[in-house]
Amino acid sequence: MAPRAPIEKLNWKPGNVLSPVPAVLVSCGGTQEWKANLITIAWTGSICSEPPMLSISVRPERYSYDIIQTTGEFVVNVPSLRQAKATDWCGMVSGRNVDKFNSIGLTPAPAVKVQCPIVLECPLNIECHVKEALKLGSHTMFAAEVVAVQVTSSLLNTKGRLCLEKAGLLAFAHGQYFALGRTIGRFGFSVKKRKRKIRR
Ligand SMILES: Cc1cc2nc3c(=O)[nH]c(=O)nc-3n(C[C@H](O)[C@H](O)[C@H](O)COP(=O)(O)O)c2cc1C
Repeated sequence: MAPRAPIEKLNWKPGNVLSPVPAVLVSCGGTQEWKANLITIAWTGSICSEPPMLSISVRPERYSYDIIQTTGEFVVNVPSLRQAKATDWCGMVSGRNVDKFNSIGLTPAPAVKVQCPIVLECPLNIECHVKEALKLGSHTMFAAEVVAVQVTSSLLNTKGRLCLEKAGLLAFAHGQYFALGRTIGRFGFSVKKRKRKIRR
C-alpha cells in the first residue's frame, strides 16, 4: 500500500464553522397582531427525541424575533432545491418591508397545531411550540417542542415509507448551498452483516 500523505492542520480562531447545516424556511406570525412572515435559518438542529424538540437561533434584531417571542410558535419548513432561491431570498430581505409569502410565490397553507402557516411547497413542515428562549449572545436560542409534522404525500413509497432522498434536499456549508447527493448507506450500515450468497 502507498504511504498516506501527512495531514497538516492549521490552528484557526474560534468561529462557527460547523458544516454542513440545514438552511430552512421558518414561518411565523399569521395572527391578528402579526402578518405571516418567513425567515431563513441555518442555526437549527434536533435537540431531543422524547419529547421531539428542535432549536432555532435568532438574532433579536430580526423582524421575526418579536413574532416568535410573543406568539411562542413557528414552523420549520425544510426546503428542496426548487425552493433554494426563495430560501436565500428570505434571508436577504426583512418582513418589516416586504410580504415575503406574496413576493416570492410561496403558498401559505394551514398548519395543524399552530397559527402560523406552513410553506406548502416544502417537503417537510415541522410545527413547533417554544418551550424556552435562551439568550446566548448575538443569538437567542428558541428550544421548541415539535407538535405536528406534515410531509408531502408523493414522497411516500407504496409501503408508506418516507423517501426523503426523492425530495432533493439542500445543505449549507461555509456560505454555500449544496444539493444533497447520492445515498451511500442507511443508519447502521457500518455494522450490518453482509448477506452470504447461497451457493447451489
Ligand atoms: C442561509 C442563511 C442562513 C441564515 N441563518 C440565520 C440564523 O440562523 N439566525 C438568524 O437570526 N438569521 C439568519 N439569517 C439571516 C436572516 O434570515 C435575515 O436577516 C432575514 O432577512 C431576517 O428576516 P426578518 O427580518 O423578516 O425576520 C440567515 C440568512 C441566510 C441567507
